[in-house]
Amino acid sequence: MRKLIIFLLLTTGFCIHVSAQSEWIVPQERKGRLSSFEFSDESRAKGLDHYNKNCASCHGQPGAANYQNLVPPPGDPASADFLMNLDGEMFYKVMEGRDPMPSFKSVLTQDEIWEIISYIRSYDPNYVHAFLPTAEKSAYGGIVSITLTHLKEAGKIEAKVTGVKNGIIENIAGAEVVLRVKRTFGSLLAGEPMETNQNGIVVFNEPSDLPGNKDGLLELTAQLTNQDAYGITRADTALAVGKPFEAVSLTVERAMWNTVRKAPIWLLITFSLAVFLAWATIFYILHQLKKITDIGKNVVEEWD
Ligand code: HEC
Repeated sequence: MRKLIIFLLLTTGFCIHVSAQSEWIVPQERKGRLSSFEFSDESRAKGLDHYNKNCASCHGQPGAANYQNLVPPPGDPASADFLMNLDGEMFYKVMEGRDPMPSFKSVLTQDEIWEIISYIRSYDPNYVHAFLPTAEKSAYGGIVSITLTHLKEAGKIEAKVTGVKNGIIENIAGAEVVLRVKRTFGSLLAGEPMETNQNGIVVFNEPSDLPGNKDGLLELTAQLTNQDAYGITRADTALAVGKPFEAVSLTVERAMWNTVRKAPIWLLITFSLAVFLAWATIFYILHQLKKITDIGKNVVEEWD
């Protein structure tokens, strides 16, 4: 009986394992997606930076095949297999992730993911770049923008979404907006995504519990999540809503790991005492030896 159970466990484990390695299928309608801007030296440089911070830990340096030994293997971005992905496929995979690769949907903005793809494509000699500017791409067919307002008294941040189509300005209702806060690595969602009301407005709570810079300044980005409908639309702002935070150097105060000048007092005292005791012991022993030789001399004199 026990053997049977072990056998069953092993085979189910094996099946799960095999299914995890199956081909990573991207929905048909997502494959053809293009970036909204033209790849450039600037986008590649930014992409390299994002890549090093977010991807290199698993995928290694492109071309060096030094990716992590994971199951399934992450693969080298400069390899033919990897580059076989269409731009839209890469974008989808980075957005969604698949265990053990995390989803980057709430870590990177869509522009940042495209910048990474522009960097990865610099290893692709056969790549022909195509892109679709925002206004042409969105189903909306006009230009959408977000305006951020800080409602200081209420402790809220208001995002208003407006569109301009055929020369007419209108409020956009029912559009999902996310608010992100920039952190050292990537960004953090400030609350749940929310839909605009009849006046094209969503109101977020201030992310007041986050440490900002020394003046409490936080860099915020509001973005529409439905890129197909509205194109890439975002607004950036910096508001002093975070907790003022000044990184203190670890060596400013007296501490174990500090230099002699700023070592903890108790450590200095114990150390000095230990050194003093060691020398005292040595002198005491020398003194006793001297005594022995002196006594020895006296004995010899008495015999004489
Ligand atoms: C925790 C490790 C890890 C991190 C971090 C990571 N990946 Fe991955 N990535 C993987 C693994 C593992 C796979 C293979 C997943 C699979 O096939 O199910 C993969 C697959 C991919 C694929 C598909 C490759 C193919 O041949 O189809 C792309 C594209 C990709 N990663 C891009 C990125 C980018 C861009 C980043 C950074 C924003 C990133 N990855 C960060 C582990 C990681």
